[in-house]
Amino acid sequence: MFLDFFNIEKSQLNVPNMKYSRRKFVTFLGKAGIGAAIFPPFFSGCGNNSGPSRNSVLSDIDLSRLKSIPIKALSPAVKDDLLLSEGLSYHTVLKWGDSISDEDQFGFNNDFTCFIPFDPNNPKDGLLWVNHESVNPLFVSGFDYRAHDRPQDHRTKEQVDQEMYNVGGSIVRIKEVDGKWQVVKNDAHNRRITAKTPMALNWDHPINGQTTAIGTLANCSGGITPWNTFITCEENYDGFFGETEYDAAGNPTHRPSAYRWEQFYDYPPEHYGWVVEVNPKDGSAQKHIALGRFAHECCTLYELKDKRVVAYTGDDANDEHLYKFVSSKPGSLKEGTLYVADVDNGKWLALDWEKQPLLKEKFKDQTEVLIRVREAAKLLGATALNRPEDIEIDPISGNILVSLTNNKAKGDFHGSILKIEELDGAFDALSFNASTYMAGGEDNGFSCPDNLAFDHSGNLWITSDMSGRSMNREDSPYLPFKNNSLFVIPRYGEDAGKVIRVASAPRDAEFTGPWFSPDGKTLFLSVQHPGEQTRDINEPTSKWPFDADNIPKPSVVAIQGDVIEKLNLLAQIEQKI
Ligand code: FEO
Ligand code: CA
Ligand code: CA
Ligand code: CA
Repeated sequence: MFLDFFNIEKSQLNVPNMKYSRRKFVTFLGKAGIGAAIFPPFFSGCGNNSGPSRNSVLSDIDLSRLKSIPIKALSPAVKDDLLLSEGLSYHTVLKWGDSISDEDQFGFNNDFTCFIPFDPNNPKDGLLWVNHESVNPLFVSGFDYRAHDRPQDHRTKEQVDQEMYNVGGSIVRIKEVDGKWQVVKNDAHNRRITAKTPMALNWDHPINGQTTAIGTLANCSGGITPWNTFITCEENYDGFFGETEYDAAGNPTHRPSAYRWEQFYDYPPEHYGWVVEVNPKDGSAQKHIALGRFAHECCTLYELKDKRVVAYTGDDANDEHLYKFVSSKPGSLKEGTLYVADVDNGKWLALDWEKQPLLKEKFKDQTEVLIRVREAAKLLGATALNRPEDIEIDPISGNILVSLTNNKAKGDFHGSILKIEELDGAFDALSFNASTYMAGGEDNGFSCPDNLAFDHSGNLWITSDMSGRSMNREDSPYLPFKNNSLFVIPRYGEDAGKVIRVASAPRDAEFTGPWFSPDGKTLFLSVQHPGEQTRDINEPTSKWPFDADNIPKPSVVAIQGDVIEKLNLLAQIEQKI
């Protein structure tokens, strides 16, 4: 997360000058619409049940051999490497700077990944989408913030242009050949979406006088729509072009960004902080205003039986909120109602200017409510949460899990995972029960939960995100956890319910973007910001992935092996599939 490299706590950057101080194409099989299995989508698939049969996963594995394999937890580690539990291996699919075509290169600080195969009968060939959340200028443009007292006086447009190219997202065709995923270079689909790509603002009224925005940035996590497009979420947008803030009398002022891109490009902050949809086929993109503007970590979609869509999305900043959009029309991310969670009372509160007198009093119309949704949410009594990060829907229970990563200002250093149970299991319900699913801390062996993923069998995978500048320090509460890691909580078998560390990240890195391939055998995973704490580019704190350039490179890896196969197998035996 880029703020670490500026040595700024996220909570410091996101505090406005106000009195308050941040899929998958889910295919639920059976279980009366409450939820069952999740499978990735297929471009050419018809209907929602086109995932691979579980028996096809089971048929080609040696049952007795897998059953006898223990899932051995890794010990916490400080080593500058990607370490894996016995029974897992990885290969690198894409590294920062890799050519994806003669025109384009893979961007920096990759986060969310998702993969959509072209053909349901061939899970080994399709399009990978990857978010590029941020840049470290020291590596990307050669600019060293620490070399200057007033860095803004030393920036050049060329540096900013390089940085703008390296955020956004990548669409890359990949194929699995002999067990290894490879890039199909120069495939017609391969392209970059960057901070300079024009895209529509999907709303009936202009945003700051315009109907088109330039570029997407701060692309953290995301999802997939039921109509097979990618969703990418703009999180720490204020770090790039700053933010408009309002005093008590309603007068706006500009809070400068950390990157200071606005020195060269006068783009309005109001054009960033949205949920963005990208068409995999041609790269066209649009920003969905109806889902509100804030530090969107993720957007997890659920399709109701009548084809209306529910989208859960969290605002990752201290004391910010959890939101839910419910469309009023099938397949729409424009027509519908945005709600914010009153977790204390289990109520979804409608952010609807027409129906809420408090909002009518403060804002001139619904467009303004959506642009300044954080203020609107607080007026209605939304619950302050400890930095909502990723959200996933449990495919077996239908429960919604929300990572609350930490809130250091409130003394919550290790975070927790919140469980939301919608009333009667209806995703468009207006009330819910909330409870803690699991707390971070030494008892459970992890801290700062961030990304979540359920595999096809309902095992839960969790990544941690302790900040680079607080990990492995004697004076830090994070010392016992060592490097950021990937954990799995098996659903079945002798390890059911245990938190098992299965991967340890290179120095300063976090794992992000876990996503399972359609056959469930590969876990795609981003390794973001290795070597983030580097001060001297000639002496980087990490050299992973250890290529000839001798510098750290954010990369996407493919993890495979018996542990993943065993977890699938246990589920199949238990579910008697
Ligand atoms: Fe980009 Fe909140 O993580
Ligand atoms: Ca995150
Ligand atoms: Ca996720
Ligand atoms: Ca995080």
